[in-house]
Amino acid sequence: MTAPSLHDPTHVPTLAEFGHAIALTEKPGTASFHAEFATLALARTSAMTHDTSTHDTSPANYGDENVLHDYEAHINPALSHLMRFVGYDSVEIEAHGCLVRDSRGRELLDCLGGYGTMSVGYSHPHVVATVREQLERQAFSSRVLFSAAQTRLAKKLAQITPGELQYTFFCNSGAEAAEAAIKLARLKTGRTHFVSAIGSFHGKTMGALSISGRERYKTPFAPLVPGCVQVPFGDAAALEGAVETNTAAVILEPVQGEGGIIVPPDGYLKAAREICDRNGALLVFDEVQTGLGRTGKMFGCDWEGVAPDMMMLAKALSGACVPIGAVVGTPSVWEVWNDNPLIHSTTFGGNPLACAAGYAAIEVVENENLVARSRQQGEKLMAAMRAAQEKYPGFIKEVRGRGLMIGVEFAHDDVAGLVIAGLVGRNIMAAYTLNNPTVIRFEPPLVITDEQIAWAATAFDESVASTAEMLQGIEL
Ligand SMILES: Cc1ncc(COP(=O)(O)O)c(C=O)c1O
Repeated sequence: MTAPSLHDPTHVPTLAEFGHAIALTEKPGTASFHAEFATLALARTSAMTHDTSTHDTSPANYGDENVLHDYEAHINPALSHLMRFVGYDSVEIEAHGCLVRDSRGRELLDCLGGYGTMSVGYSHPHVVATVREQLERQAFSSRVLFSAAQTRLAKKLAQITPGELQYTFFCNSGAEAAEAAIKLARLKTGRTHFVSAIGSFHGKTMGALSISGRERYKTPFAPLVPGCVQVPFGDAAALEGAVETNTAAVILEPVQGEGGIIVPPDGYLKAAREICDRNGALLVFDEVQTGLGRTGKMFGCDWEGVAPDMMMLAKALSGACVPIGAVVGTPSVWEVWNDNPLIHSTTFGGNPLACAAGYAAIEVVENENLVARSRQQGEKLMAAMRAAQEKYPGFIKEVRGRGLMIGVEFAHDDVAGLVIAGLVGRNIMAAYTLNNPTVIRFEPPLVITDEQIAWAATAFDESVASTAEMLQGIEL
C-alpha cells in the first residue's frame, strides 16, 4: 500500500490511513498517534458559514455526497469529520434485525446496537405492527384524557420489575429519567446530595451530568448541581464512606456501560442496598443500558436479587422504534406526588406511540426468550473474543461482560481505534465506550444469530491481526 495523502490539506484522512501511514512511512517510537492525528483531522474542519449549495434534497435524489455535505453544513462539522475518520462515511437506508443496509448497498452487522438500544432488533415486525396500529388510530395524546397505551405499559413494568416497584413516570430519554430520579429523590428525602460512581454515565443534561463520572464532559459546564460526589465503582467501602446524613440517593448502573463495561464484584449491589437503608438514602439503579435482557437477566440488578427504590429505563424500552424514558418507583417514593401531582411533568413523555412500542418490546423480549438468548449468544461471542485474546495477549488486556453487554479492553486506546477501523472496514459497526476509549463494546441486538456471531468473530480476529501487523515494532 502506498502512503496515503496525509499531507493533502483538502483530504479528510481516515483512521485506517493514519495507521498505515504510521506503519509504512512515519513509524514513531510510541503509538500515541491516534489522538494527535485525530486532532489533525479535526483541525481540517472549517465551519461553513454560508451554505450556497442548491442540490435536490427530495428522498429519491438525495445522494451520499449531498447528505454528507449538508450534515457538515447544517448539523455538526466536527462530528462529521470524526465519523468519516473512523470509516462511517455512508448513509443508512434501511435496517432489519441486526443488519443495516447503506447507500452503497453494503449490509453492516450492528454490534453497537445503538449503544444498547436495538435489543429486539431493527424494525421488529411485532413492534412495527403495534406502533402502526396505534399511529393510525391515535398518533398523539390529548394529554388530558386517560391513555390506555400509557397505563398498560406502566402496569406491565410493575409486573416485570423487582421488589416493590409499582409506579412509572414516563419521559423521552435516559437523561430525562436521571433528571426525574434526582428531583424525586430530593423531594422524598428532603436531602440534596447524591453519590454515584467514577466512570458512570447517566446522560448529558445538567443534572444527569452532575451525577456522571467523567470530568472531560463535566468541567466545561461547571458549576453543575452541587452536592454530587463520585466514588470508585465496585468499592462498597468507598460508597459507605461517601454516604452521609444529607445523601438523598445513591445512583448506580448495575453493570457500568460507558465506563468500559465494568461488572462489579458479587455482593456490591447488595452492599449498596444495605448502606442506603442504614443511612436513610434512596437507591436508584440506572438500567437505561442494562435493562430488558441486555445482561442475560431481565434487569442488571436481578444478578444479585436486589431491588432499588427507583429504576431508570430508556434505550431498549423504545423497541428500537420510538424514543422513551421511564422512572419506575415504589409506593413510598410516589407519595411525593400527593401534594402536587404536576410537580414534575413533560409534554411528550408517555405518548401513545412510545408506550405502544415499549409494550410491544417487552412482549418480544418475553415471547422470544430474549433474556436467555442474550446469555447464550453472549457466551458464544465472549468465547470468540477470548480466543482472540489468547492469540494476541499483548494487545487485548481483558474480555468481560454479562450477556450481550461485552467489553474488550485493549492495551492502548490507539489500538482500540485501529481495531474499530478494521471492523468498520469489514462491515461491522462498533465503537468504544464513551468514558473509556480503550474498551470496544459489543452490544448487538439480542436476536443476533449464530452465523452473525461467527461473522463478528472472524472480523474481530482479522482486525486485531491486521492491527498487530501494522503496529509491529512500535512500543505501546
Ligand atoms: C446507563 C445510561 N444512563 C443514561 C443514559 C442517557 O440516555 P440518553 O442518551 O437517552 O439521554 C445512557 C446513554 O448512553 C446510559 O448508558
